Amino acid sequence: MKNEILRLLKESDTYISGQQLCDDFKVSRTSIWKVMEQLKKEGYGIEAVRNRGYRLISSPDVISEAEISSLLKTCWAGNRVIYFDEVDSTNNRAKDSGERGGIHGTLFIADRQSAGKGRRGRTWSSPPGESIYMTILLRPSITPSRAPMLTLVMGLSVAEAVREVTGADAKIKWPNDIVINKKKVCGILTEMATEMMYVNYVVIGVGINVNQRQFPGELAGMAASLCGETDKVYRRSEIIAAVMERFEKNYETFLVSGDLSGLKKAYDAVLVNCGQEVKVLEPGNEYIAVAEGIDQVGELIVRLPDGQRRRVFAGEVSVRGIYGYV
Ligand code: BTN
Repeated sequence: MKNEILRLLKESDTYISGQQLCDDFKVSRTSIWKVMEQLKKEGYGIEAVRNRGYRLISSPDVISEAEISSLLKTCWAGNRVIYFDEVDSTNNRAKDSGERGGIHGTLFIADRQSAGKGRRGRTWSSPPGESIYMTILLRPSITPSRAPMLTLVMGLSVAEAVREVTGADAKIKWPNDIVINKKKVCGILTEMATEMMYVNYVVIGVGINVNQRQFPGELAGMAASLCGETDKVYRRSEIIAAVMERFEKNYETFLVSGDLSGLKKAYDAVLVNCGQEVKVLEPGNEYIAVAEGIDQVGELIVRLPDGQRRRVFAGEVSVRGIYGYV
C-alpha cells in the first residue's frame, strides 16, 4: 500500500483526499495516517490540510523499494526491487537469488557496497549517498554464447537514459563503459551461470557515478559523475527508473533476433570514437585503426591503414582513443 500511495502522491499535482485513499485501499484513516508518517520519516515532505487531504511537496534522494516502485512504468524490469543500505556487492546478492529461483527482472540496489566489484578482478569504489549500485537478474532463453551481448544492451540503455535525464552527451566506450567528456561515469559487470546449451541466469551490475564532486587518487583523472559534468544534482531514483525503462525496451528488441541487429544503429550513434582512429591493445599486439561500429554480435569493426577490416572481440582486448583512455 505504501508504494501505491507514494505513486499516487507523485502523480497528483493537487491534494489527495484522505477519505478517497481510505475508500481506494479499504483501510481506516489511521492506517493512511500511519503510511504518511512513515513516508515523512523516510524524508518525504508531505503537507496535510484539513478538508483537502495530502500533498507531496518534496522527495528525498532515496533509492528505497517504495521510491523506485513509485516511478517505474515497466512490465517486468525492476518490478521486484530489493534494497540494501549496505551490501557486499549487488552482483553477489543477485547471483544468490539466481541460485534460489529469484524471478526474471528482479533489481538489487544498494546505497553502499563494502566489496564492490569491477571488471578484470578490480574493485569498484562504492561510498554511500551519491551513486547508483544496482544489478538486474535475468533468465533469458538464449544460448550461453549470446549472453555477453546483454552487457552491450545495458550499456546502450544507460547511455540513452543518462542522455534523456541529464541532457549530457553520454557516449559508450566500447564495449560498455559510459563516458561523458571522455571521462567514465558508469561501469557494467555481467556475470552468469550457464550449462552447455542453456543459461540458468545472467546478472548485469551497473555502477553510475551520480552526485560526487570529487574522486580519490588514481580515479581523479579518469572518472567523472553526472553532477560534475553537468553541474546539476540528480535524484538517483529517476535515473534508475529511466535505465530500467530503456533496458526493458532494448532487451525486447534484442530477443526478437537474439542478437544486436535491431540495436546496432542506436549503439553506433552513441559510440565514442566512431569513425575515428583508435588504439587496439591485444595481448602482445598493439595497432592503430579506424573504429567503424559494431556488428550484430557486438564485436567492434575496425579498418586498418591498408583498408582491410578486422573484427575486435571484447574480453582481453582494450580499445582506446589514440591519446588516452577514451
Ligand atoms: C567496471 O569495472 O567498469 C564495472 C563496474 C561495475 C560496478 C557495479 S556497481 C553494482 C554492481 N555490483 C558490483 O559489485 N559491481 C557492479
